[in-house]
Amino acid sequence: MKGLILAAGRGTRLRPLTHTRPKPVIRVAGRPILHYAVENLREAGVEEIGVVVSPETEKDIREALAGYPVRYILQEEPQGLAHAVAVAQGFLGPSPFVLYLGDNLFQRGIGRFLGAFREGVSAVIALVRVEDPRQFGVALLEGERVVRLLEKPQDPPSDLAVAGVYVFTPEVFPVIGDLKPSARGEYEITDAIQGLIDRGKRVVGVEVEGWWKDTGRPKDLLDANRLLLEELSPRVEGEVEGSELTGRVVVERGARVVGSTVIGPAFIGEGAVVEGAYVGPFTSIGPGARVVRSEVEYSILEDQAVLEDVAPRLQESILGVRAEVKSRNGLPRAHRLILGDLSQVELA
Ligand code: G1P
Repeated sequence: MKGLILAAGRGTRLRPLTHTRPKPVIRVAGRPILHYAVENLREAGVEEIGVVVSPETEKDIREALAGYPVRYILQEEPQGLAHAVAVAQGFLGPSPFVLYLGDNLFQRGIGRFLGAFREGVSAVIALVRVEDPRQFGVALLEGERVVRLLEKPQDPPSDLAVAGVYVFTPEVFPVIGDLKPSARGEYEITDAIQGLIDRGKRVVGVEVEGWWKDTGRPKDLLDANRLLLEELSPRVEGEVEGSELTGRVVVERGARVVGSTVIGPAFIGEGAVVEGAYVGPFTSIGPGARVVRSEVEYSILEDQAVLEDVAPRLQESILGVRAEVKSRNGLPRAHRLILGDLSQVELA
């Protein structure tokens, strides 16, 4: 079985982080989101993996997946998930395949969904009970069989949201060919699955075990970071001097922790510097980032981000690549901010 990861999206709900870089390359617990997708597919025995990219995301996605033997497929226009699948038909060929949305995280992998695929089943979809299903695809079941599927309905028929992993047979291609664009102007994968149901095909829903995260909004990224850090095995490969490390802490090769307090679970990436600082639980410090005379907790710092002399403590924050927060002493006692579109700053 082949695997197809979709990574062409623009991640509008994560702006400004996604103004310059696509969502699946953002790091959670030290690794690009996309790495978890590839690892999950491999663990489920999927060896041949295609990744759908767009002209805007291709460069960053290729960089994030350097070293992984995957095939890249270009979706020129953002016309929806079903369109992305159609674009990849040549790669997928005549066999069943797994579709994996590149911004989704599954604690226990995806073996369960592939396991439910069998003769006579046209599609398997992953389902998860959520409090507010209105922001997802929503399924109505009769036994294991999906009888109705709606994309982001105002009045959801159940609390079963569609999580981002699907198994399809090639029967889905002609259905996609017949689709009309949805209200948001996209060819929806949800409509393609409803099309299979309408043609009398068997679509099976399988509930997710363990946690699942769609990393659509900043809050979800921080939450995913927390969940993944909770499963970290402690490991210190960098240099630690005059510092106290408590709980599950990873200090990667080339990182330096000097005169600091780190309370896990926390991740300190390759070449990062933590000096005279406090790094609290559920924090990931990216490669080459610097935290100096500052306090930070429940946050993500991406590659080469900088915190200097920051007090009071920074929390629930995400700093993009090379973003800097510094405080200066002396006069004038004023804030100096250079913020891109849609940046968010809360001053205490
Ligand atoms: C997509 C699907 C939706 C699904 C969700 C899961 O939505 O269209 O059915 O529930 O992924 O992550 P999107 O996140 O692209 O709006």
